[in-house]
Amino acid sequence: MILVTGGAGFIGANFVHEWLRGGRSPVVVVDKLTYAGNLQSLTSGCSGSRPTFVRADICDSGTISSLLECHAPQQIVHFAAESHVDRSIRGPEEFIKTNVVGTFTLLEAVRQYWSRLPESARSTFRFLHVSTDEVYGSLGSADLPFKESTAYAPNSPYAATKAGSDHIVRAYHHTYGLPTLTTNCSNNYGPFQFPEKLIPLMITQALDGHPLPVYGDGSNVRDWLFVQDHCEAIMAVLDRGRPGEVYNIGGCSERRNIDVVEAICAILDELRPVSGKSYRHSISFVRDRPGHDRRYAIDCGKIKSELGWEPRETFESGLRRTVEWYLDNGDWLRAVRDGSYRDWLHLNYGDADR
Ligand code: NAD
Ligand code: TYD
Repeated sequence: MILVTGGAGFIGANFVHEWLRGGRSPVVVVDKLTYAGNLQSLTSGCSGSRPTFVRADICDSGTISSLLECHAPQQIVHFAAESHVDRSIRGPEEFIKTNVVGTFTLLEAVRQYWSRLPESARSTFRFLHVSTDEVYGSLGSADLPFKESTAYAPNSPYAATKAGSDHIVRAYHHTYGLPTLTTNCSNNYGPFQFPEKLIPLMITQALDGHPLPVYGDGSNVRDWLFVQDHCEAIMAVLDRGRPGEVYNIGGCSERRNIDVVEAICAILDELRPVSGKSYRHSISFVRDRPGHDRRYAIDCGKIKSELGWEPRETFESGLRRTVEWYLDNGDWLRAVRDGSYRDWLHLNYGDADR
């Protein structure tokens, strides 16, 4: 049994699909279902075995402890987080609650559960914490990519809370011997991403004929990792990673934001042309994000040499697959955009506003 927190979110849902496709152990998903959690992402396309779903907040230690006792997981992958930088700038409090207090609460419940396991199960148990390259701060154009040994220098409230959670995970390994693994990855993209992040936002804005808002001059650089490559990397770390270690995961695809947006426009011009006009004409440079990190880049040397993982998807092929997915999954997108994906919550829980 594997327990996945945040499995109704973008990366978590992709991970659960990959895991079940691989015929691995049964999955329990624990997710609070915030605005970013979507059960349609978790169930869509599931033909074989399905995950068990439990709606719970990782800050609720009583519920998390009972779930651990009830399901007795041998592995935990922790995705649950508030994940959007712009939201963290407008309202950091939820980020502190979930990313810092939530991760601590989860770890403490896990430590108590783990300490009661028989010795053989204690040593094979794994807690994998999914984190971000943003904890390392911002690079200049000539700087070397982030390594696992790069000093932490988080700049946004989001990055600061993820950095805090990384430190707590580290301490639980160092102090209590909990077999933890931490991964720090770059910007993911692919199916089921909520259309507030750059790539799905640009696709949906373009399809609606709306402006494509590029912050500042569009020359900030991100490294883009196709989500299925990320999921494979997580499985490699879970299977073969050394407890207590950190692994950086990147897509080897550094791109300026403006180049990403232009590439999306070019694919849409081909697949969904609008007569006489390129989508590029909708690009609009808007006020920059406060404290906007200039560049992220990842050195994946450690995970490649130790675990033999490297990304399979090029940015060009991954972006095309992603645009095609959004074009082919209009129902998913419509439900997200008109809010009807949350109707199920009303029906099932009667408290959709949580
Ligand atoms: P997401 O925002 O799409 O999903 C987060 C999920 O966590 C949602 O299903 C939400 O309902 C759930 N959640 C939020 N608060 C919760 C709580 N208190 N208790 C239980 N569940 C809760 O995020 P994502 O893009 O899938 O990211 C997953 C993880 O990967 C995060 O930890 C994020 O920091 C990290 N990460 C993401 C990226 C990226 O590009 N998306 C890059 C690097 C790292
Ligand atoms: P985002 O997808 O929010 O990820 P992160 O901030 O975690 O890197 O943004 C990716 C890049 O795109 C980032 O440099 C900010 C920029 N961006 C825009 O230019 N316009 C937008 O509307 C958004 C959401 C992001």
